[in-house]
Amino acid sequence: MTIDERVEELLQSMTLREKIGQLNQAGTRMNCALPGFEADIDTWVSEMLQGKLAKEELDRRLAMCEENLREDEVASGELGNFVNLYEDEKIARVQKAAVEDSRLKIPLLIGADVIRGYRTIFPTPLALSCSWDMECVRTMAHVAKREAYAGGVNWTFGPMLDIARDARWGRIVESPGEDPYLAGRIGETLVKEFQRKEEDGCRLMASAKHFLAYGAVSGGQDYYTVDLSERQLYETYLPPFQAAIDAGVGAVMSAFHDLNGVPCTMDRWLLTDLLRGKMGFTGFVVSDAEGVRQCVAHGCAKDEKDAARLALLAGGDMDMSSLDYAGYLEELVSEGELDETVVDEAVRRVLKKKFEFGLFDRDYTYDPAKIAEVTLTEENRKCAREVGKRSVVLLKNDGILPIRREVTRILVTGAIAEDRQALLGPWAFTGSAEPVVTVVEGLRSYASEGVDVRYVRGFDVNDDRSDFAEAYEAAKQADLVIAVGGEREYMSGEAASRANLHLAGAQEEFLSGLVKTGTPVAVVLINGRPLAVGCLKENPGIQAILEAWHPGTECGNVIAEILYGRYNPSGKLSVTFANEAGQEPMYYNHPNTGKPGSDFKFTSKYQDIPIAPLYPFGYGLSYTTFSYEDFRIEQETLTVEETLRCSVEVENTGAYAGEEIVQLYLRDVTASCARPVKELKRFEKISLAAGERAMVRFELPVSEMGFYNRSCDYVVEPGEFRLFVGTDSERVLEKTVQVVLK
Ligand code: BGC
Repeated sequence: MTIDERVEELLQSMTLREKIGQLNQAGTRMNCALPGFEADIDTWVSEMLQGKLAKEELDRRLAMCEENLREDEVASGELGNFVNLYEDEKIARVQKAAVEDSRLKIPLLIGADVIRGYRTIFPTPLALSCSWDMECVRTMAHVAKREAYAGGVNWTFGPMLDIARDARWGRIVESPGEDPYLAGRIGETLVKEFQRKEEDGCRLMASAKHFLAYGAVSGGQDYYTVDLSERQLYETYLPPFQAAIDAGVGAVMSAFHDLNGVPCTMDRWLLTDLLRGKMGFTGFVVSDAEGVRQCVAHGCAKDEKDAARLALLAGGDMDMSSLDYAGYLEELVSEGELDETVVDEAVRRVLKKKFEFGLFDRDYTYDPAKIAEVTLTEENRKCAREVGKRSVVLLKNDGILPIRREVTRILVTGAIAEDRQALLGPWAFTGSAEPVVTVVEGLRSYASEGVDVRYVRGFDVNDDRSDFAEAYEAAKQADLVIAVGGEREYMSGEAASRANLHLAGAQEEFLSGLVKTGTPVAVVLINGRPLAVGCLKENPGIQAILEAWHPGTECGNVIAEILYGRYNPSGKLSVTFANEAGQEPMYYNHPNTGKPGSDFKFTSKYQDIPIAPLYPFGYGLSYTTFSYEDFRIEQETLTVEETLRCSVEVENTGAYAGEEIVQLYLRDVTASCARPVKELKRFEKISLAAGERAMVRFELPVSEMGFYNRSCDYVVEPGEFRLFVGTDSERVLEKTVQVVLK
C-alpha cells in the first residue's frame, strides 16, 4: 500500500474526535499545588527567563510539582502530538499510551526546539551562520539528530529561518543572519541533514519557522507588528523558506505577529495561497505556541472558538498549545460552521508525515543504555568544539593574539567567564549547563607549562562595582587580561528585545578603568546579538576583541584554542554591527537611495554617528592575512541563458595557516526597481598554508541575477551589472559585465 492509501484507510476509520486529536499538540500538565508557594509555572518560567529566578531553583520547584503526562487523553485519541517534552522516559510513556492503549494506535509526533543541539549544545544559530561552513551546519544537525532521536524526539522546531536585520530583536540570536542567500544555504543544509534517514531509521522531521517575516517586527520589538510590501517579502524573507521547501521540509510553523494587518496564524493568503500555491509546500502547518488563541488578542477573532475556525480555514493544520482545536472544532463541525472535509484535509497532511517519517515503524521501548551510548559523548563534544571554533569572529587584533609564549601571567575577569548558564546561552532548553566548560577551565586546561591563569570576578552585566578594585589590582600583576563580558543567557532570545545595544550595566566603565592599569586587554564577548561596541573598537588599550557568541557546551575549550593560537579564527559576520541602536535596522544589502550617504550634508545618514557600520557584513579577521588579486571574468557580455564564470587569486600572505571565506557580490546598476548596493551571490571557504596561493572560481547563472519587480514577477533585466569579490562586503575587487537580451 502507498502512504496515501494507508492515510486514506486510517482516516476512514477515525471518529471526528480522533481526527481532531491529530491536529492537537500540547505539553504535559503540571499540578503545582505546592505548600509555601504561589504556584504558577508560567510566572516562574517568565522569572527564570528574565534572570530573576535561578534555573536550579526553577528545576527544584518543578521537581516538586506533579506532572500529568496526559496519557488518558492520548489513549482516548484526543491528543496526537506533544510539544517540548524532552525527558526520554516520559516520551516513552506517552508513546506507549498511543501505540498500545489508543484504539487506532497512531504514534505521537514529539516536537522540541532542537535548535543548536539536543544534549550536546552547539553555538547559537547566529554564531553557526558566521562559520559560513555547510559542513559545520551539517555536523550540528547530525549530532543533534542522533541525540534527539535516541531520546524519542521525532520532530524539531527548526530551522529558524527569519532574516534578521535588527539587533534590537532578541531572536536575532536564533536566526541565520541578515542575508537571504546565506540563510537559504543554511536552511537547505539543516533540513536535509535533520530529515536524512540513517541506516537505523534515525531522522527528525524539520519545520521551517516562523512564517513569515518575524524578523521584521517594528522597532525590533518582539511579537510586534510587521507591515511590508509583497516585493520585500519575495526579495528578502521568502528565499530561505523556499530553500527549505525545495529541500523537502516536513512542516512550516506560522509566526506570532500580524503581517500587513492579518495575524500569520489565520492568514489564508499566507498559509495557503502563497505557501502552498506559489511556493509548492506539501507538508503541514503548525501554529506557534498558543498562536491560535492569540488571534483574539490581535483583535481578529472574537473568541477562541472563532480563532480555531479561522486558523484551520487559513491552512493552519495543527494547533500548538492553545488547545482550541481540541476545544472547539467538534462543536464547529456539528453546528455547520466548519465542513468536516477541512478537518480531514489537515489530518491527511499530519498522518502523511507520521508515515513518511517512520513513526509507525519504530520501537518505542525505553532503553536508557542505548540513549546514553549516543548522548553527550566525547565524539559529540569534539564536534561541538570544532564547529564552535569556526563560529567565532575575531573583530579586532592589535597583535596580542594569539597569546605569545612570553605571556605567563593571565588574568581572566568577568562573572560570565565562570558562569555555565550564561556561557551556554539561550535556546538550549534540551541541554544543561552542568557539562559546559567555562572560559577559565578551558584556558587552564590548554595553558602551556608555567602559565598561570588567575580568575577575579571583577564585573558582571549589572551595575555592581564592588569587585572592580580587586580586578584592577590583579591586572597590574598580569601580562595580559582577558575580560569576558557581553550578555547573560536571558538577554537575547524570545521576548528579549533591547532598545540599547551597549554593553549592559557598568561593563564599559569597568573596561575603561581596566585599560588604565596599562596591562594589555583582550575582550571576549559572550552575547546573542551584535552589540554597539564602538567604545571597545576605539579604545587603544583594548587590543583585541573576540566575538565568541555563546559557543555551547565546549565554550571554554573553543575560546582557549583560539586565544592560544591552536586554531586560527575564520568566522565572518553574518550580520552587520551598527554603531548605535538608533541606526537599526542596519544591513549591507540596502538600496543606494537618491542621496547616498557622504560627507555632504544633504545625504542619507545620521548626523551623530558614522555612516559606515561598526563592522560590516562578511567581516572577520584571522591571525594571518589574505591578498586578493587578478579578479577575472571569463565573458563580459552574457545573455540570460548563459552562466557567468569568474575567478580570483587568493594568497595567504601572513605567517599562519588559515581559512578564508571568499565572497562574491553582485549589483544590478540600473533596473526598474532600486537594487541593493550589493547582494551576496556565492561564497567559498578555502584553507591555505602560510604563503600558499589558490585560484577560487565561481559560476553564477545569469538567471540568478534577477529580482522581483513592481508586480512581484521575477525578472532579469538586461544592462550593466557589477561584480565584487573580496574578504568582506566592503573590501572587494570589482568588475563590470553586460547582460543582453540575445
Ligand atoms: C517559539 C517557537 C518555539 C515554540 C515551542 C514559541 O514560543 O516562538 O519558536 O518553537 O515556542 O517551544
